[in-house]
Amino acid sequence: MLTDTAAPKHGLAAGDAGRPENADWTISQGWEHYTPADHATWKTLYERQTKLLPGRACDEFVQGMRDLPIGADEIPDFRHLSEVLMPRTGWQVVAVPGLVPDDVFFDHLANRRFPAGNFIRKPHELDYLEEPDVFHDVFGHVPMLMNPAIADFIQAYGQGGLRAQKLGNLSQLARVYWYTVEFGLLQQGDGLRLYGSGIASSYTESQFCLDSPSPNRIRFDLERVMRTNYRIDDFQETYFVIRDLDELLEFTRIDFAPLYESATRAPELQPGDVLPTDQVFSRGDGSYHHARKQGTAT
Ligand SMILES: [Fe+2]
Repeated sequence: MLTDTAAPKHGLAAGDAGRPENADWTISQGWEHYTPADHATWKTLYERQTKLLPGRACDEFVQGMRDLPIGADEIPDFRHLSEVLMPRTGWQVVAVPGLVPDDVFFDHLANRRFPAGNFIRKPHELDYLEEPDVFHDVFGHVPMLMNPAIADFIQAYGQGGLRAQKLGNLSQLARVYWYTVEFGLLQQGDGLRLYGSGIASSYTESQFCLDSPSPNRIRFDLERVMRTNYRIDDFQETYFVIRDLDELLEFTRIDFAPLYESATRAPELQPGDVLPTDQVFSRGDGSYHHARKQGTAT
């Protein structure tokens, strides 16, 4: 199956074989080693995505992109991104070879270092990602790190991740990240907009999440989201909508431990479930995933 959904698979450690020299798994981006073909792939992805995002990406994403040294012609140099990010929100971008173990990932985020894959997908894989590459990580994530609310939220997620590991509640916390930082929508004055990096960097899902009649779009509720499974292999069946990015800041001030407890006691929810208590922006007809099931059944 093809998908350009870029899963935050930091939960799947690459294993000792891939362990780099540095304990924090960082490597040099090796910017000078990118080939003309690598830059050309970036350009293809960048140009088709920037055409799609007006009217779909939230204002903060557009502004962040505008203020960063991210353009069509070459893969951005992480050092130059950090020079702009650091004075703005205290974040920097560090290169990693791909997936890193959870504790390493959380420690980076807790210290305002965003680990970005330094490799780029191949030209025949434009819409397929096994693991997040430089296009997903830089185009999708870095513009949002220019926003102070997201910047604080992702740092708190890193700190919370280290705690959740000890409490055994990582899956509940990972769902919060998934349905916000990766696949979140928000209410803007002129309609729903995307801010999640998994969709902002995806040619097909950035259209699907807002234009398709298939998925549910439901008001974000922290405990409800902690109970909700997600799809890692296809478009989401449900997108959760926050009021604005400042709502994420409220979550940085909450003790998640009691929420983990009640979320663990309550039944787990499937990705397409809609509850009577949900505040529904649009109830999906499920047509896309229904057709996929039919397709695979025959
Ligand atoms: Fe991501």
